[in-house]
Amino acid sequence: MQLSQRITGITGGGSDGWDVFYKARRMIAEGENVIELTIGEHDIRTDPVILAAMDRSARGGHTGYAMVPGTQALRESVAARIQDRTGVPTTFENILITPGGQAALFAAHAATCNTGDRALYIDPYYATYPGTIRGIGAEPVVVRTHASDAFQPRAEDIAAEASKGAASLLINSPNNPTGTVYSAETLEGIAEVCREHDLWLISDEVYDTQVWEGEHISPRSLPNMADRTLVVGSMSKSHAMTGSRVGWICGPKEVISHLINLATHTTYGVPGFIQDAAAFAIDQGPDLEDGVAAPFRRRREIAREILADQNTVGLIPAQGAMYLMLDVRATGLSGEAFANSLLDTHKIATMPGESFGTAAHGHVRVAMTVDDERFAKALKTLVDHAQTLAK
Ligand SMILES: Cc1ncc(COP(=O)(O)O)c(C=O)c1O
Repeated sequence: MQLSQRITGITGGGSDGWDVFYKARRMIAEGENVIELTIGEHDIRTDPVILAAMDRSARGGHTGYAMVPGTQALRESVAARIQDRTGVPTTFENILITPGGQAALFAAHAATCNTGDRALYIDPYYATYPGTIRGIGAEPVVVRTHASDAFQPRAEDIAAEASKGAASLLINSPNNPTGTVYSAETLEGIAEVCREHDLWLISDEVYDTQVWEGEHISPRSLPNMADRTLVVGSMSKSHAMTGSRVGWICGPKEVISHLINLATHTTYGVPGFIQDAAAFAIDQGPDLEDGVAAPFRRRREIAREILADQNTVGLIPAQGAMYLMLDVRATGLSGEAFANSLLDTHKIATMPGESFGTAAHGHVRVAMTVDDERFAKALKTLVDHAQTLAK
């Protein structure tokens, strides 16, 4: 029996650059003591007060089908949070609750791209982006950034691809994997290209609470952008609720009304007790969010100190998100060869820059997701290893 090209083509074939990750997981399964600096998941769990709200809701009976677009309470809480943070008037009708940011990315592309349309995204990129675009039948088209620009996209590079025809542009700030926070200038340039070439802008803002330097600007707040921007948000990173699978799309009411049809025919919504816990968590305000982000803020400072007195390993200015992008080109190795050698020699697992496209070759991404002491030790070892290789 033949499977559809849509489903067999999602990964695009070829090496996906995740070999080091799988090797680390095998070593751990065999009982080795590997320090894992790979995946973007907090070392803390969901706060007990949020779990208590989830428990109250489930025991209170909210275990049946929930409203497909999301509960009124959560849609309103998300809308209020977005309006507070961006100043853009936002109501519950601008919000669809989804099972995580990933489902929102899929829905946003389904809403904006026809089969065969070109959908632009920025390299380096979060691993699922091209597969998500292929999954809705569009063609992923990459726009490269450069380490020398600290991976800020150039408007002219986006315009060059847009001028060949494209339906959408997907951006992500604060950025996974680079830690770059897009500047006002970058975002204004992007907005200009979107207006000029009539592109939908899909803005993945799942790291919006993890900003260490500069400020997070949502492009939906830029002039004439609210009608063409779909914002992807999530409770995963801001509230350490990765396993709860709850996120949202914020966009024009008309787009949301169509996306409710998509949700009806795919996910049929998100469990009510999860949504009640999410609404409770958002209503706690920024203090809870700051507490979840605090360990990464602290570890970024630890990293800056460790990396300050040497010039073998370069740090791309880590302005946000839970990652560091380290330039290891002075070792003469690719990111993948360096990551393999660090894992084999010191049992420290990092992600090769090549796992995220071609722009971050010769780099490794370090997730700041182990306790401060192990993190500092691992980073010092990484620097020593790079210096030994560079000699
Ligand atoms: C940039 C980015 N977008 C979206 C997601 C999806 O997150 P979730 O589906 O857990 O909300 C992730 C997860 O790591 C991410 O890094």
